[in-house]
Amino acid sequence: MDPAQAQRRIAELRGAVARHDELYYRRARPEISDREYDRLKRELEDLEKQFSTQAGGSGGESPTRRVGDDRLEGFQTYRHREPMQSLDNTYSEAELREFHTRLARLLGREDLGYVVEPKIDGLAVSLTYEKGRLVRAVTRGNGVEGDDVTANVLTLHGLPHELKRQGSDAPPESIEIRGEIYLTFAEFQRINAEREEEGLEPYANPRNLAAGTLKQLDSREVARRRLEIVLYGAGHCTPPGGAGPTQSGYQALLKAWGLPTVERFWEARGIDAVWGAIQELDRLRHAFAYATDGAVVKLDSLALQREAGSTSKAPRWAMAYKFAAERAETRLNAISIQVGRTGVLTPVAELEPVVLAGTTVSRATLHNRDEIARKDIRVGDWVYVEKAGEVIPAVMGANLQLRGPQCEPYRFPEVCPACGTAAVQLEGEVALRCPNHDCPVQVRRRVQHFASRACVDIEGLGEAMVDALVERGWVGTPADLYRLRREDLLTLGKKVEKTTDNLLAAVERSKSSELWRFVHGLGITHVGAAAAKDLAVRFRGLEALAAARAEDFLDEKKASRIDGIGETMAMAIIEHFRIPRNIHLIEDLRRLGVDPRPPPAARAGGAALAGKTFVLTGTLPGMTREQAQAQIEAAGGKVSGSVSKKTSFVVAGAEAGSKLAKAVALGVPVIGEEELLRLLT
Ligand code: IVH
Repeated sequence: MDPAQAQRRIAELRGAVARHDELYYRRARPEISDREYDRLKRELEDLEKQFSTQAGGSGGESPTRRVGDDRLEGFQTYRHREPMQSLDNTYSEAELREFHTRLARLLGREDLGYVVEPKIDGLAVSLTYEKGRLVRAVTRGNGVEGDDVTANVLTLHGLPHELKRQGSDAPPESIEIRGEIYLTFAEFQRINAEREEEGLEPYANPRNLAAGTLKQLDSREVARRRLEIVLYGAGHCTPPGGAGPTQSGYQALLKAWGLPTVERFWEARGIDAVWGAIQELDRLRHAFAYATDGAVVKLDSLALQREAGSTSKAPRWAMAYKFAAERAETRLNAISIQVGRTGVLTPVAELEPVVLAGTTVSRATLHNRDEIARKDIRVGDWVYVEKAGEVIPAVMGANLQLRGPQCEPYRFPEVCPACGTAAVQLEGEVALRCPNHDCPVQVRRRVQHFASRACVDIEGLGEAMVDALVERGWVGTPADLYRLRREDLLTLGKKVEKTTDNLLAAVERSKSSELWRFVHGLGITHVGAAAAKDLAVRFRGLEALAAARAEDFLDEKKASRIDGIGETMAMAIIEHFRIPRNIHLIEDLRRLGVDPRPPPAARAGGAALAGKTFVLTGTLPGMTREQAQAQIEAAGGKVSGSVSKKTSFVVAGAEAGSKLAKAVALGVPVIGEEELLRLLT
């Protein structure tokens, strides 16, 4: 490459890296895999080195010289007392060994002691504890100053607001403690399922969803999602030296202060032992509850860390070794279009089955029309498939070398594949939608949702049955379920008498389901099961909810929003009931004898368990967890999944595990089923 060509490529790469930084850090919607990003950045660094370009210069500072910036409008910024750097990373064992060789030369010794930690795939934050109290939480931002996310971080369940003080391990006067905020795979799947149910586009991986959540301006929305945190680093400390003499010792201190730490780390002397630890981590990490994308290797001695120092961007004493996501290559046989409950058209790749990270994959998401166009994916291509965040198979791109001449660019259908209506793109949305409310697939999905276990729960009304009812024209809205006639149902097939009677009985029973089940069943955008429960407590009837105005979503004194209902959701509810057919549905349900059960009224002085939070663990002798949860909630209490100092009671049954241990450690009262029943009466 001659210097002129190199300059052109450098300019091009700077533009691309800066753009991908913006997509990843600010918008939490990256367009390329971490691996592709790392490759672009490495090519840029190499060219800048080779052609000794002023990384700054007239075109602005190169993105290789700064850390990605996550700051957003709407947040106060706060300056870190000590900058938050990023890490150099590599995918190669040889480069990891070079890192050690460099350090050994710099420090004049071979037998360096290291700590190997999992690299958690989340987003970096810095917490400041003063006199043992959590006073501030700030994102990495541009490394020098970040967004103040204290209100949101205070909603995290597993994070103590006060550090434990234990003799000589007492926390220092003031310390910046660094770590990572993340979501477990389970929580990621729960939220995404809810989003899909609400007609919203799911997030591609847990890291993006965690970033999107932490940057919500409404802390109540944050509290609905179970963000977690793990701490592993230290910034500024008064008096100095509060992090102790070693990284391994610091991990022990963090634990003693009651903070969540990495679930496992390795102490390793010399680079061979480091490599062994990395291999072991790679074997174990697939069983972790959260995504890890590598190992972080750190010099153990903090004195040697100081001696090694830092470059402008990253410390010389640490290196991230990244695990490449498992990837498979297979043929794209077809692209099918799914129609969602709200009409969203989602393209799905129909693949030649291929084994990926232990499971056979034959379908993968293609996200939306823009994604297919951007990656130029064509039917008949050989495509790369990866599991995004190790969960959802996604098509990353096509192998252009294997593309046949007959492969035509993909044309996204202009009409709904189910009803032929012209698809539309709503303002501010990437997705295309079928706007026809009477589209048969949307009708089926709306009724399926209403009858599902998460809503009014009509036994015997599975997807196939709903399809049959809609196909025959007997059901067009959820209300029609209450108009079903025995003589019609009996024509559905042989031996249906008993099934028909059971179904009609289940339909009849559902008329008095709990109010929140109907609220959820209406399919209002943004309103999942948890929000439906809050709305039921507040409005106590479908008619009252349908008549709600903006100010009704404020609390009694009209001073703040009612618990759990943010602005976006309030607007979605008001919009929903502006449409006459949605009001009509409620009138229709009422006429047909639907009489939802409102939540029990708060007794004088509050419901029995108002303000109390319970955590359930182990198997109770006389009731399932769902039953216990329903009873606690009916009495005004809340059920949470993790134990903190704020938990009122842990209800422990047989084979209770770590939650019980945590309750004991935190001094939270532990009760059994019998005591729970006493509290409930
Ligand atoms: S130490 C000076 N340890 O990975 C930087 N970072 O790609 C010290 N990360 O910015 C960072 N797990 O957000 C460290 N065990 C761990 C980590 C970790 C995840 C993140 C962190 C960092 C990024 C670099």
